[in-house]
Amino acid sequence: MSKLVVLNHPLIDHKMARIRDKNTGTKEFRESVSEVGGLITYEITRDFQTVEKKIETPICEMTAKELEKQIVIVPILRAGLGMVEGIHNIIPTAKIGHIGLYRDEESLEPQVYYAKFPEVIKDSVVLVVDPMLATGGSASKAIEIIKKTGATDIRYVGLVGCPEGVKRIQEDHPDVAIYLAAMDSHLNEVGYIVPGLGDCGDRLFGTK
Ligand code: PRP
Ligand code: URA
Repeated sequence: MSKLVVLNHPLIDHKMARIRDKNTGTKEFRESVSEVGGLITYEITRDFQTVEKKIETPICEMTAKELEKQIVIVPILRAGLGMVEGIHNIIPTAKIGHIGLYRDEESLEPQVYYAKFPEVIKDSVVLVVDPMLATGGSASKAIEIIKKTGATDIRYVGLVGCPEGVKRIQEDHPDVAIYLAAMDSHLNEVGYIVPGLGDCGDRLFGTK
């Protein structure tokens, strides 16, 4: 079964409170989503393999360490874009792919409209990024598309999840670890996470 890590950190909780608050404006919302993306990155990368590399400090030679594998960040459009900058700040060597998906408002089924990945994705560690894990349909479809590239080390990174979404990923993709800033109670009758933070894409981009 997929590993599930719900971050439990005062700084993340503090920023999540600002993100969830309906009175938080677009600017602070956008900055905080990006910052939490960066903070979660420390936990996601905890078990990354490193390789030794000989370097010279101003004082002497030494054997240092660098990341073994290329990292690819794949945001699910639109809302996933909000977390990319924060993660990229922490891993500037990461390459970025994109998957365009939206939930049909009636059926809640994901509709795919775009997919573009860097060539190196197959041998990379892939971070699938989307703030909201609701029914899990969008994340599951995105992971399915990424797996078709041959990539095998895939991790899902989100802000808010719920039991329904986690169950869906664990059933569809038991090999994919899930990292969340918070785990909420349930989905409401129109597929929104409760208590959640509302529509993340609309709040990031000011579309409503
Ligand atoms: C939101 C969110 C996820 C999806 C989660 O996107 O960013 O991609 O819903 O829901 P699910 O787990 O039930 O699939 P939305 O479909 O609103 O598209 P947008 O990001 O373009 O606004
Ligand atoms: N997408 C969102 O943006 N918010 C939710 O609560 C569920 C799906």
